[in-house]
Amino acid sequence: MNFLIINGSPRRKNTWKIVERVKDTLNNLDDNVTFTEIDLIDEEIPSCRGCFSCFTNGEHTCPHSKIIQPIVKAMIESDGLIITSPVYALNVTGLMKNFIDHLAYFYHRPYFFEDKAMVVVTTAGTAHKKVGKYLDETLANWGYNERYKLCFVHAHDAHGYLPLETKQKIDKETTKFYNSIKEKKLSSPGMKALIMYNVWRAMAYNAHIPLDNKYWVENRLIETEYYEKVPCSIIKKIPMKIFYKIMLRFMKNNNVKQD
Ligand SMILES: Cc1cc2nc3c(=O)[nH]c(=O)nc-3n(C[C@H](O)[C@H](O)[C@H](O)COP(=O)(O)O)c2cc1C
Repeated sequence: MNFLIINGSPRRKNTWKIVERVKDTLNNLDDNVTFTEIDLIDEEIPSCRGCFSCFTNGEHTCPHSKIIQPIVKAMIESDGLIITSPVYALNVTGLMKNFIDHLAYFYHRPYFFEDKAMVVVTTAGTAHKKVGKYLDETLANWGYNERYKLCFVHAHDAHGYLPLETKQKIDKETTKFYNSIKEKKLSSPGMKALIMYNVWRAMAYNAHIPLDNKYWVENRLIETEYYEKVPCSIIKKIPMKIFYKIMLRFMKNNNVKQD
């Protein structure tokens, strides 16, 4: 099992301490666990230029694709993603936000429906839950089936040790994350995931961006209320059938073009 760690902190300190405990826990659970580690600071990703090329012409036409696409490849090839950020000015770090901006095409063309991720956030005092929620939401929009969260204030004590309660929380959440990946069982999507899927599906149907339409059609995502390999009960699907029809009508009447 290979885990990809994308570190959004410019240093390996407080947030990394949590990651180290996660790694220890995974190593204790499985002798064959390996880690690929990416520190965004070392990737030197230039700022997103807002050229829209990833949306309209494809992600490989991004002026920074030579840096971004190897990271995406590592995400695709990994069995589990661990993504981290400390709180900076009540949000993720600029490093992390810039990375997310470069992957915004995954909102249009979600991919990771069979994958699971863990979010690690630390803060000195505030906004850890908000930032954890933001990362969780971002990953959900990219398709990630399950997200596990570890969000802490003052992760370690004055001597650099993690409090027992923190260690226990990390171990519990990491074990759940590991077992879920091992069992390869996919969770039924929540209402928010279903709604977002069907909003993008309707947008793709209307071919505002032809590339999105091609992606949704070719991958047969357009045909169903949710990615077909993910279990989704008829009780959830029926309101989505109606919602999708409403969205299609709405899109037809409000034919907003991206510019
Ligand atoms: C530029 C900057 C902005 C920060 N903004 C906040 C903030 O808004 N709220 C907060 O509680 N802590 C804030 N912090 C503190 C960090 O979130 C906290 O120290 C974190 O654990 C650092 O993680 P790291 O050691 O992995 O970099 C900030 C730190 C820096 C350097």
